[in-house]
Amino acid sequence: MAVAALLAAAAAPAAAGTGGAPGVNDPYFPLAGNGGYDVQHYDLTLGYDPGTRHLDGRAVITARTTQRLNRFNLDLNGLTVTGITVDRAAASFHREGQELVVTPRNALAKGREFRATVTYAGIPQPVTDPDGSLDGWIPTDDGAFVAGEPQGAMTWFPANNHPLDKASYDFTVTVPQGRSAVANGVLLGQTTTGGRTTFRWRQSEPMAAYLATATVGTFKVEQYTTPGGLRIYNAVDPREAAAAAPVLRKLPSVLEWESGLFGPYPFRGAGAVVDHAPKVGYALETQSRPLYDRAPDLGTLVHESAHQWFGDSVSLTTWKDIWLNEGFATYAEWLYDEQHGGPSAQKTFDELYAEPADSEVWAFPPGDPGSGEHLFEAPVYSRGAMALHQLRRAVGDRTFFRILRAWATDHRDGHGTTAQFVHLAERQSGKDLGGLFHTWVGTAGKPSRP
Ligand code: ARG
Ligand code: ZN
Repeated sequence: MAVAALLAAAAAPAAAGTGGAPGVNDPYFPLAGNGGYDVQHYDLTLGYDPGTRHLDGRAVITARTTQRLNRFNLDLNGLTVTGITVDRAAASFHREGQELVVTPRNALAKGREFRATVTYAGIPQPVTDPDGSLDGWIPTDDGAFVAGEPQGAMTWFPANNHPLDKASYDFTVTVPQGRSAVANGVLLGQTTTGGRTTFRWRQSEPMAAYLATATVGTFKVEQYTTPGGLRIYNAVDPREAAAAAPVLRKLPSVLEWESGLFGPYPFRGAGAVVDHAPKVGYALETQSRPLYDRAPDLGTLVHESAHQWFGDSVSLTTWKDIWLNEGFATYAEWLYDEQHGGPSAQKTFDELYAEPADSEVWAFPPGDPGSGEHLFEAPVYSRGAMALHQLRRAVGDRTFFRILRAWATDHRDGHGTTAQFVHLAERQSGKDLGGLFHTWVGTAGKPSRP
């Protein structure tokens, strides 16, 4: 917080008050996102050559100012910007690390819609996250694995790169004939000319930048509509196809089961991208179409699918609240097991609870990982799920499932905070749950036996 404020002050001593802040005060990622405007839509036109790893891009960003702006920032890491216009007039710009600082010819009044067009090119470089994993446009042997949690969106398009600012997206991605480019939402069309194929995708529901993808590879594609009306588009690396097939066959029934628990599936398109990218080491709940670095097991498919409700449709306002994503998606796995002949959630809880007091699962509170380094660790996933299980025991099954559904419904296409979740649970149950959440979400160390 202090860092962002300091940078803002340092960057604009003279033009005080009219420059947009370089971050949105996220304590873990002070430069993520930007102040002063709210993006409505990204229209991304990309060309990628897997041979040279060269990316050409044009981003047309439609946004509305939330303050008077004589200058604003976008997040972009690496690449070369060749030009920017704001409402068709050439704008001046410079780079400061991940900040792309744009000065429009004329200042923008507060509350005004504007359109910024950024043309750029280069060889994208993924970022290394505080936890040591790669994130962003990650080259593979036949294309690129494109995942952005928490920071990597800025490695392939200029963005207001924080989940606070959600927007709709159009993608037009051109790749060599024979490769596919798979983005979010629904495929509007594909055309091949001169040895290159262009894929047009549209994500019409609001999406956080980290959930955008434009994964490129040599994929086997299957498309079908489920009996429930979901449009599935699966893209599978042939090397993973045999292992992925039995799991992907269950996708419609998993989404249907989750819809029964959490409310209607929130997006227009669905499916999966199963890449062969072993060095990535994780899957991501890219909106409408999760991205797997290898053939997933069923638990992972259930997890990434549950994120469509918890994390994608209902977004974080701060990375500190990551348990609202990972704890919920993990608890969905426990519930799936319980309802499909596996161990009960209570049994899964008991096994975890048996971990000794110095085990990593108790290392920090799920609600306060402390820094970006610990976002994706056991206290967030397992203990986050344990917290939900304790909530379930305290309020009973009927109320618990009503709470989950109300959370997904009331905050659909929007955001939610831990405080709002606690408030909702208390309202739905009529119980004071402050102590429970304090113990299971807010306090480090192994809680005493519940
Ligand atoms: N959200 C992903 C999941 O479903 C994990 C992403 C991990 N990303 C990272 N940069 N380590 O669990
Ligand atoms: Zn997850």
